[in-house]
Amino acid sequence: MSLKISINNIKVQLSILSLFLVLALSGYSQDGKNLFKANCAACHKIEKKLIGPALLGVEDRWENKENLISWISNSGQYLKDNPGDSYAQDLFKEYNQLQMTAMPLSTAEIESILGYIAAPPEVKTVGPEQEETASAPQDDYTNMWLFSFAIIFIVLISVILSVKASLKRILLELKGEDGLVAIGEINDMDLSTYQQTILWANRNTKWMIVVSIFAFIGILYILWSSIWTIGVYKGYAPEQPIKFSHKIHAGDDGIDCVYCHSGAEKGKTSGIPSVNVCMNCHKGIESGKLYGTEEISKIYDAAGWDSDNQKYIPRNQDPIEWIKIHNLPDHVYFNHSQHVVVGKVDCKECHGDVATFDYPMHQENDLTMGWCIECHRTKDVKMNGNPYYDKLHAQLVEKYKSEGLETFTVNQMGGIECAKCHY
Ligand code: HEC
Ligand code: HEC
Ligand code: HEC
Ligand code: HEC
Ligand code: HEC
Ligand code: HEC
Repeated sequence: MSLKISINNIKVQLSILSLFLVLALSGYSQDGKNLFKANCAACHKIEKKLIGPALLGVEDRWENKENLISWISNSGQYLKDNPGDSYAQDLFKEYNQLQMTAMPLSTAEIESILGYIAAPPEVKTVGPEQEETASAPQDDYTNMWLFSFAIIFIVLISVILSVKASLKRILLELKGEDGLVAIGEINDMDLSTYQQTILWANRNTKWMIVVSIFAFIGILYILWSSIWTIGVYKGYAPEQPIKFSHKIHAGDDGIDCVYCHSGAEKGKTSGIPSVNVCMNCHKGIESGKLYGTEEISKIYDAAGWDSDNQKYIPRNQDPIEWIKIHNLPDHVYFNHSQHVVVGKVDCKECHGDVATFDYPMHQENDLTMGWCIECHRTKDVKMNGNPYYDKLHAQLVEKYKSEGLETFTVNQMGGIECAKCHY
């Protein structure tokens, strides 16, 4: 009898471990900072205007917090319901009627975002000359993972210790040195809450099994969904030091993408053209239709070009500090030429129709793992008449002979194995 209690004890301790993990992790995802980064950072910064207004001090600008919260959860609906709120209506007009995405967030979650906006831990005062070099929103999720792992580690250790204690007791009982009381003699009133819980759990093993299963599914779900949504910056469009327009250059003038991004066909990164590439044309083109000489003269400053005398002034260069828009985390391996040259994937499929993008340039797709995998699962690799694939194609036809396949996705050639993309 008491042997059974001890074994059940172990089960119970494991279930408590699962519950604890679910609570710890879901508590963490409520954190205002992470919610802000996941849902708002694509369009908002706290101290600077991005696509939407800077959010510092926003609570003071709104009449009351309820309005603000219902605005954030669905601004389109708010505008419809409150035609009389001239502040909100004007703001919407001021931002070219660009509508915020409706957010499936609870009031508590919005409150925690507002809490973070009101007191963001890392806002530093940035000098005006420093501002331009601020890079894309780089996230560091290392802390979150470390934090989770630390908790898991601590709990595991304590569970292992108590399992060990239980096993020891089983051993003692088997040896007949039983110091325990028989179960019927236990008076519930003498026990601590913890012991009572354990006792209850022992008497309701089936329930505890159900609870444990749900708890484990919960953990898996939370880990899984965080992999797919972490650090998404679709739509990121920072201001650049020169108002360079892809529409003018790649669209109207029809300049080939690789004329400027020559790395795309050669290696891992596409790269941003150096000022010399701009000078190939802009030595001659001194003013534009939109900004006159204002923007093009910045190219001259960067190149150290004296346009009045048509010569370079040595040691007067001042490189243009373009702000990087696309940023994969360091642990992901992505190679342009593999896609552009070997796979014959068009720039458009990943970056959108860049030739129609005005200043400022933006990120068209979210660059999440789900996005990469979706294409790898569904896209047929252009193997026909592509010398890179002659041998592989023959091998794959052989491998999938029973299914009679002639075309293959990246997946079928092993392109969704973790190690292909992660070091
Ligand atoms: C797709 C871009 C986008 C996203 C995502 C977005 N916003 Fe906005 N936000 C805007 C724009 C644009 C405005 C300006 C008003 C308008 O055009 O609707 C705005 C306005 C606001 C305002 C009013 C600012 C003021 O000065 O009064 C608040 C508050 C706000 N957003 C909070 C949030 C929060 C919180 C999130 C995340 C949960 C979020 N927004 C996500 C684009 C966005
Ligand atoms: C005349 C030169 C030129 C041509 C042609 C050109 N680009 Fe660019 N591209 C730039 C410059 C300069 C930047 C950096 C400034 C910016 O982001 O607006 C840039 C930025 C980009 C970025 C964002 C880089 C980042 O920071 O993440 C992408 C993506 C891109 N270009 C794709 C294309 C594609 C696709 C084409 C062809 C349709 C193209 N470009 C044609 C000069 C050029
Ligand atoms: C299969 C999808 C895909 C295709 C096709 C693709 N890109 Fe990219 N591109 C990306 C990703 C992902 C990044 C971000 C890379 C990073 O942060 O390491 C990127 C980044 C860039 C950048 C920023 C600088 C850099 O190299 O990190 C430029 C510029 C760029 N791409 C231009 C192009 C051009 C031009 C083409 C077509 C010749 C092209 N890309 C085709 C996915 C693609
Ligand atoms: C192959 C030739 C060529 C190259 C290379 C080139 N441009 Fe241009 N650029 C043009 C033409 C053509 C115009 C259009 C002038 C007009 O508006 O009439 C232009 C216009 C501009 C304008 C003015 C827009 C306006 O309407 O005021 C800016 C700014 C500019 N380019 C920046 C750059 C930068 C930065 C680079 C290097 C990354 C670059 N260009 C490379 C051909 C080029
Ligand atoms: C629009 C479709 C598309 C997208 C989006 C895409 N890929 Fe690919 N990818 C391909 C194709 C097609 C190939 C096959 C090219 C080849 O044989 O190397 C490929 C091949 C690869 C390979 C080599 C696989 C192997 O088996 O050798 C890696 C690694 C890779 N992609 C990484 C990425 C990453 C990382 C992303 C997301 C940031 C991404 N890809 C997004 C289409 C895509
Ligand atoms: C086709 C490329 C590709 C393959 C295959 C792939 N990943 Fe990823 N993975 C990515 C990209 C891209 C990101 C970055 C997503 C982001 O920043 O939003 C990522 C992010 C992650 C993260 C989140 C890390 C973080 O905090 O940013 C984990 C964990 C992960 N991958 C695990 C895996 C596992 C496990 C597999 C194998 C089943 C796998 N990946 C296969 C491209 C890939």
